[in-house]
Amino acid sequence: MHDRLWEIVELDFSPDELLHYETLFTIGNGYLGTRGAFEEGYPGDTPVTLVHGVYDHTPGMLVPELVNVPNWLPINIYVDGTPFKLITKTTDFMRPPEGVVLGYRRALNMRRGVLTREVLFRAPSGNIVRLEFERFASLHDIHVLAQRVRITAVDGNAHIRVESAIDADVTNAGVPHYLPEFTLDDRGDTIGVELKTQQSKYIVGVASRLVSPRRIQTGSTEKRPYTVTSFDLAQEDWVVLDKFSSIYTSRDALSPLETAQGKIAEAASVGYEELRARHEAEWAKYWATSDIHIDGDEEAQRALRFTTYHILIPAPRLDERVSIGAKTLSGLGYKGHVFWDTELFCVPPLILTQPKLARNLLMYRYHNLPGARHKAQANGYDGAMYPWESTDTGEETTPQWSDPQPDGTKIRIWTGDSEQHISTDIAYAIEKYWRWTGDDEFLTQYGAEMILDTAVFWGSRVEEKNGRFEISQQIGPDEYHENIDNSVFVNRMVVWHLQTAFAVLDWLKANAPADHQRLVEALKLTPERLALWLDITQRMYLPFDTNEGIHVQFPGFFDMEYIPVPHYTPRIGSVQAMLGHARTIQTQVIKQADVVMLMALLGENIGVPEGFSVREVMLNNWNTYYPRCDHGSSLSPAMHAWTAARLGLIDTAYELFDHAVHIDLHDNKGNVRDGIHAAACGGVWQAIVFGFCGLHIDAAGQPAVDPRLPEHWRSVTFTVYYRGEKQTFTVKNPALVSSS
Ligand code: BGC
Repeated sequence: MHDRLWEIVELDFSPDELLHYETLFTIGNGYLGTRGAFEEGYPGDTPVTLVHGVYDHTPGMLVPELVNVPNWLPINIYVDGTPFKLITKTTDFMRPPEGVVLGYRRALNMRRGVLTREVLFRAPSGNIVRLEFERFASLHDIHVLAQRVRITAVDGNAHIRVESAIDADVTNAGVPHYLPEFTLDDRGDTIGVELKTQQSKYIVGVASRLVSPRRIQTGSTEKRPYTVTSFDLAQEDWVVLDKFSSIYTSRDALSPLETAQGKIAEAASVGYEELRARHEAEWAKYWATSDIHIDGDEEAQRALRFTTYHILIPAPRLDERVSIGAKTLSGLGYKGHVFWDTELFCVPPLILTQPKLARNLLMYRYHNLPGARHKAQANGYDGAMYPWESTDTGEETTPQWSDPQPDGTKIRIWTGDSEQHISTDIAYAIEKYWRWTGDDEFLTQYGAEMILDTAVFWGSRVEEKNGRFEISQQIGPDEYHENIDNSVFVNRMVVWHLQTAFAVLDWLKANAPADHQRLVEALKLTPERLALWLDITQRMYLPFDTNEGIHVQFPGFFDMEYIPVPHYTPRIGSVQAMLGHARTIQTQVIKQADVVMLMALLGENIGVPEGFSVREVMLNNWNTYYPRCDHGSSLSPAMHAWTAARLGLIDTAYELFDHAVHIDLHDNKGNVRDGIHAAACGGVWQAIVFGFCGLHIDAAGQPAVDPRLPEHWRSVTFTVYYRGEKQTFTVKNPALVSSS
C-alpha cells in the first residue's frame, strides 16, 4: 500500500522543534502513551510514558496527576567509541570530534502505528553507518512494547557497542512521584525495575530485554539497569537488534515486575516480526471503520488521519475505569485530567466507529458515580454532579488556583465550582451512544442511572424565581465569563437533559419495567420530583432577544465592552492573552463556541420563540457570536466549522476546519509540547461527518446524509455503525460530479 497520505514525516531535525515532534510522534495502545523522544536522548527532551489510571497526588501539589513511568526507550549506540547523538548542524562533513549526522528522516506511519527513524552518521573515525530505528506499542497485546535497530556499516569497518537501558530516574517535570525504595533486577538477560507511587501507592513494574546476535552483559547504575553488547561490522555488513519491553502496574497485576518479565519472555519467543504483524492487523481493524476518505484534498486527508490516530491511541481497549485526558497520554498538560473534552468531542467519533471503545469511556463515568454523588452532596444538592476535572477517584480535581502569572499573582480558577454543564455533557454522550448503538443493556444497567441521577441533581440545582426557573453562578463553554447567571447554553441543555430523562423513563417503563422500578426507587424519582422536572422544562428561562432574533449568551453580555476580534489578526495567541484576564472578562470577547456549540449539539432543535424561523435565528446567532470569538480554546474552531457547514457557509467552514485539523501539526496554539489537543481531534471528525456530510438519523429512524462539501472536495467516504450494522456512505460533491 502506498503510505504517503498515512505518514507524518520530519525530514530535518531541529532542536527548536524537539518537544513539538515528541508530542506529534507519540505512540500508544489505549493502555499507555509514549512521547516520541529519541532512544539516545537529547538535551531538554521529555521522554514521558503515561499509563492510564496511574495518578499520584504528591504532598505539596494542588491536585493529582498522571505519573511518568520509567523510560523504556534508551538505546545508546557507540560507533568506534563515539556515542551516536543528533549533533547540531555543521558543514564540516568530515571529522568533527563528535561525529556528524549526514542525513535524517523520521516518520510516523499512522496506518501501521509504527514510528521509524533513519540516520546516516559519520563517526570521527571516518566510518559511516546507517541507523534505522523502529518502535511500536502493540495494539494486539497492550503490555508489549517493541523496538528494533538495524545498524549497517556503509563505509568502513566499524566497531559498534550498544547499550539498552530502562531509566527509572524519572519525574513529572521535576516533581517526584515515587517512594525512595525500589526493586531493580539486572540478572540474566532481562532487566527490570519496580517502583511505588508516593501517595496513591500504585506499583509500576517495567522489564526489558535486548535480543542481539552477539553476547550480552547486564548491569546497572543506581536507577538504570542496562544491557550491553558489542561487535565489529565489516563494510556493507549489518546487524539487527530487538528490544522488548513490558509495563504492568498494580492496577492490572499482583506482581507487576514479575508479570512484565513473563511477558518479555513470551514476546521474545514470538519474535519482532510476528509481534509487528499482529499489531498491524489490529490497526487495520481500527482503520476499517475509523478512516474517512477525502477525495480532492490530500493535505486535509493526511491531517485528518493524524487527528483520528490521536483519538484512537489513547482510547482504552480493555479498561472501563479510565478515560481520555484533555492532552491524551501524549504530554503532561492538564495533568492527565479528564474534562468534557472526552464526552462531547472524543466519544462521538468512537460511538459511531468503535462503539466498544466508546462504551469503555462511558463506563468510566458510571464507575465514578460515587464521586459525582459526593460532589453533589458536598455542595448541598441531590443526585450526581460530575467533577469538571476527573482522575481515578471520580472526585473533583480541578485546581482552585492557577500557576503564578508573569507578575507573580495567581488567578482563582472557578471551573471546578461553576462549570456544571459537564453533567449534562455526559448525559448527552450517553444518549447519543444509546441512540446510535441500540445497546439497551448498557442503558438499562448503567446509562439510565447516570442520565437520571444527574437529572436529579439539576432538579435540586435550578432556582425558581421571577416566575420562572433560573440557574445562577455558571460557567458556560465560554470560560472568559465566570459565575454568570442564566447561560443560555446551560439552561437550554438542562431542558434537553430533563426531557431526555423523561424519554429514558418512558422507554424503561415500556421495555424494562423491573429496571424502571429499581431506578425509580433507588434514585427516589417521586411523582413530585417528576412534576418539578416537567415544570422546569416548561418554565426555564432561555434568554432571547426578540429585537435581534438571537439567543443571548447570558443577560448582560451585550452591556460589556465590544472588542472587534477580527481586527486582532494575524495573531499568535488569544485576544485574552493580549488584553489580560482582568480586562477580557469585562468584554464581549468569547473564548470558544458557546451559543455556536449549542447550535452544533441541538441543531434545528435549538428552540426559538414563536414567529421566528430556526434558520433565521441560527444565522443571526452565527453573525453575532462568530465575530466575537477569539478561539482561545482549541475546542472552538471545529465546532464552528460544524455549525458553519450546516448553515451553508462553506468557505468559512472550510477555513475553520483547516485550522482545527492542523492545531497540533502546525502548533497553532503554540503549546503542543504539553500534549495533543484531544478535543480538537474529535471535533474535526464531527465537523466532517455531522457538519460537511450532515449525517443524522432521519424521520424513518435510519442514518442519512445531507452533504454540504467544500467546493474542491470531490467526495467523502466514511463508515459508521448504526445499531450493530456497519454502513459506508460516499457523499459526492454535486458541483464536481456534474462537471466531471
Ligand atoms: C477549555 C475547556 C476545556 C479545557 C481542557 C480549556 O481551555 O476552555 O473547554 O475543557 O481547556 O481542554
